[in-house]
Amino acid sequence: MSNLILDMPAIEAAALRLERGELVAFPTETVYGLGADAENPIAVAKIYAAKGRPANHPVIVHLPPGADLTHWAQHVPSQAHSLIHAFWPGPLTLILQRALSIPDAVSGGQATIGVRCPSHPVAQALLKIFKQGKGGIAAPSANRFGRVSPTTAQHVHEEFNSDPNNMIGLVECILDGGQSEVGIESTIVDLSRIATHGPVLLRPGFITASEIEQVIGAALRMPDAQAPRVSGSLDSHYAPHTPLALVEEHQLAHVLAALQQVGRRAAVLSRSVESAPAAFAQMAMSASPQGYAHDLYAALRAMDAVDVDIIVVTAPPHHAEWDGVNDRLQRAAFDSVGVLERMLQV
Ligand code: TXA
Ligand code: MG
Repeated sequence: MSNLILDMPAIEAAALRLERGELVAFPTETVYGLGADAENPIAVAKIYAAKGRPANHPVIVHLPPGADLTHWAQHVPSQAHSLIHAFWPGPLTLILQRALSIPDAVSGGQATIGVRCPSHPVAQALLKIFKQGKGGIAAPSANRFGRVSPTTAQHVHEEFNSDPNNMIGLVECILDGGQSEVGIESTIVDLSRIATHGPVLLRPGFITASEIEQVIGAALRMPDAQAPRVSGSLDSHYAPHTPLALVEEHQLAHVLAALQQVGRRAAVLSRSVESAPAAFAQMAMSASPQGYAHDLYAALRAMDAVDVDIIVVTAPPHHAEWDGVNDRLQRAAFDSVGVLERMLQV
């Protein structure tokens, strides 16, 4: 990212659009976001309309470095300060109790607020200019609801602007900041009920649970029924259009042969370069969780563009460092077993 030249006139124009209540898509180090002025409920409503997302799903508010958190949150526990010190700017979102003055449009009506300070230089420049560094940009990932998150400006364009009949979803301003480095969405930690429920991991990501636990000196819990809702935690999410099946590595050859027998074309995503002769297309993924995350969404989009009946992904190791990747794969492969069973029935 160091050789990225900032197009300041474009960033300034984008900040003006946000101030006028319009939408702007912008790069972050995780994925691209579809942004609006977090304190303008009409502008935030435009995000929901463009994405086709239900209005009771909260969106993350992006803040510039050094932002006054007390403007956004009612209570900022000491663990939040420690995590901010350790990981901001960066791919970590904190859920806190929302300040009463902040419109509940950003929280889908919940009493919480999700905040994060992105490290991408374009996002930072935009946040520093927007409302002279005193505003927040509400931004979910810049994709249609339930689909794969975008990691390039081109992906955002394809999501919203490639269908001539979809005038509601048009995104006129897309800032280009190259390919997102992290590639999967931020880790989300809920501190809004820390006194009663402890810190809760709502979504795994590049910053791992153990890195967070080391900083706050406490174990992260898993969400219970009362935890704030996280749309990325719906069972089916991050999904390509083509059905996706997640299989163990040792099952791959067998599954591919069976698919071939019923005349189905499969695209394969696997970590080993070992070729799968029964596959119609194959893509080799990184052996490291960071490298895999970086390429995952672009790979799913590329496989979606190939004319195949199914995308078969070999499951990465079930180790903690792979939690972020495995979480996204499991949601993309929602109903994996059913998909395979139906396809293999002749
Ligand atoms: O990396 C990311 O987090 C990207 C980039 C653009 O920053 N954003 C992102 O946004 O992934 P989105 O909307 O696709 O996912 C944000 C998640 C949602 O699952 C949402 O439910 C949760 O954060 N969230 C946001 N505000 C919340 C709140 N007040 N309470 C509970 N969950 C919240
Ligand atoms: Mg999303």
